[in-house]
Amino acid sequence: MIDKATVDRILDSAQIVEVIGDFVSLKKRGANYIACCPFHHEKTPSFSVSPAKGIYKCFGCGKAGSAVSFVMEHEQISYPEALKYLAAKYNIPITEKEETKEESEARVKRESLILVSEFAQGYFSRILYETPKGKSIGLSYFRERGFRDEIIKKFQLGYSTDERTGLVNAARSAGFNLDYLVDSGLAVKREDTGEYVDRFYDRVIFPVHSISGRVIAFGGRTLRTDKKVAKYINSPETEIYVKSRSLYGIYQAKSSIVSKQKCYLVEGYTDVLSLHQAGIENVVASSGTSLTTDQIGLIKRFTTNVTVLYDGDQAGIKASIRGIDMLLKEGLQVKVVLFPDGEDPDSFSKKVTPQELVAFLERSEQDFMSFKAELLSSEMDRDPMQKARLVNDVIRSIAVMPDAITRAVYIEESSRKFNIDESLLQQEVAKVIRQNQIELIRNEERREWRSTTINSSENIAALTMPEKRKIPDFVNDTYCEFAERELLYYLLKFGQHKLYLEDEMYVGAERDRELTVAQYILTELQTDELELKNLLYKNIFDEYFKLKEHEQEQIMRHFLNHPDKKVSELVAGIIIQEHNLTIKHFIQALVPEENILGKFVPKAVLVYKSKVAEQANSNLCRALGEAQKAGDTELQKELMEQIRIIMQVRNTFARELNRLTL
Ligand code: CTP
Ligand code: MN
Repeated sequence: MIDKATVDRILDSAQIVEVIGDFVSLKKRGANYIACCPFHHEKTPSFSVSPAKGIYKCFGCGKAGSAVSFVMEHEQISYPEALKYLAAKYNIPITEKEETKEESEARVKRESLILVSEFAQGYFSRILYETPKGKSIGLSYFRERGFRDEIIKKFQLGYSTDERTGLVNAARSAGFNLDYLVDSGLAVKREDTGEYVDRFYDRVIFPVHSISGRVIAFGGRTLRTDKKVAKYINSPETEIYVKSRSLYGIYQAKSSIVSKQKCYLVEGYTDVLSLHQAGIENVVASSGTSLTTDQIGLIKRFTTNVTVLYDGDQAGIKASIRGIDMLLKEGLQVKVVLFPDGEDPDSFSKKVTPQELVAFLERSEQDFMSFKAELLSSEMDRDPMQKARLVNDVIRSIAVMPDAITRAVYIEESSRKFNIDESLLQQEVAKVIRQNQIELIRNEERREWRSTTINSSENIAALTMPEKRKIPDFVNDTYCEFAERELLYYLLKFGQHKLYLEDEMYVGAERDRELTVAQYILTELQTDELELKNLLYKNIFDEYFKLKEHEQEQIMRHFLNHPDKKVSELVAGIIIQEHNLTIKHFIQALVPEENILGKFVPKAVLVYKSKVAEQANSNLCRALGEAQKAGDTELQKELMEQIRIIMQVRNTFARELNRLTL
């Protein structure tokens, strides 16, 4: 049994587009993604995925569901198996066995920590509203800052007096275990006396909510102006609060983020409150630190559009620039609003009406590029070094964008803006992309090395060798017609064309040799000892490499006039076939196909290999099911190990495919 917290974590992490994208090439269409349905045969896409809703639906065959049900349906596996698949994909550790005593204790403890935090939240709110000090100090502070009661209530704000043990006493009399108060970060146990004292005292209190609205942490702001007193005190990391995975306001913002398809990102608690008060509810705060990948992942579950609202001061600007690259890297569309110098969203919103604020945000929203350019353009004229730095900065930002077309647009725009040759910019961006990729691969290798278990030493060899894309030899009996057909298409139509590989990773080995498309495909298949499974396809494939002719025209003529009618018909069909795959269509309209073989041939090979791996995986899963029925535990163990390997191989393919789609 997988415990509920882990199930929740898996479901929270699974992003439907990423999950389905491992099996199907998705194409963005408005807020959704479309593809040809993997569950029934079709030529025009009627399969649609909604990242906002977290669901897929095929309007052709009617299949619909969530990320988990997609994996179940596509891989034909059970619910727990699908969860395990997703856990592996997102590196979430799960324990196979029944929940142990320790685990259930840990779960109960987490729940207890949340309960004590929720008790504390109630306590701080009662102090704020019901005690003289709370009313005269805390509540009047919030009101002076212009926060209305509805906002104070919505965010469950509170107050703690200067009494050092107020919460400790209240929790004790309510029967709470005081150690839980310590473990949830609300109290501290004095080492010398063993006394419990409050962490938060003499402060207004901002509870931090989880995405599902539970109270998991607190921030406390002092009302003193004494510079020696820290302005904010925050909960430490606890079993229920991991700062890098939380965003202030996400619970109150999520539905608005989905409906507006935009998330405003601010720095502080009060910025979130003020925007809500002005009717802008799709806002979260990073709480003063720069964003983490996990936090961006939280946002990405609801939208890919982020507008960064940071202070107009130097520190604010710097912070926003740092944050932007993180956001771009995760594939988000990033805009920036720069507030007038010295204003933050909170202070600014107090100076204008809500309507004016909305208008200001709309009007001042800038693409990040124009933002950067504007920011430094004045200095740029004075200092050529400054210009070089700015351009490099822009190049780095463009290089992290996952989408090639977006990159091209930005390159073109920057070329104009900075008056720099476009092809030079292109080269520089490509260089940074390569550096980043190499870095990424190195990191992955390191990680993989660390995570591979020792008892499977043979597999370690297979997986960590340079050729770790290789499909393990236990794979046979696989078959994927459409991917095989795609290979034949390139072979027949472009086999004798030279392949200018775009991908540095491949070029390394082949740089000195001019490769034709046919040679490339043959080598790739031979490396993994793969043969086409469709006999007709295989015959054509084998015959191709026996031909004496080496002119593309002659080869085509040979097959089109083949004595075997089945061959000639098939070849004709393949050559004129419609390619409704991926972005190929779009690019084809712009560039002649033979110019981009270097991208699409490796891709077709990878798709083919992924299909082989995928098919092998479902065969293995089926075999596993049978072994389970038969009670053959030895075989089960072996099959599970094979499934683990094939999944890794498949993930590697998926990553490479992603890289090629850049
Ligand atoms: N922050 C913090 N610790 C500090 C200062 C700031 O954790 N010592 C975090 C808080 O989450 C804060 C955010 O950084 O909300 C932004 O800091 P700042 O702009 O100084 O605070 P504001 O929220 O704007 O508070 P105020 O408007 O009351 O000054
Ligand atoms: Mn502020």
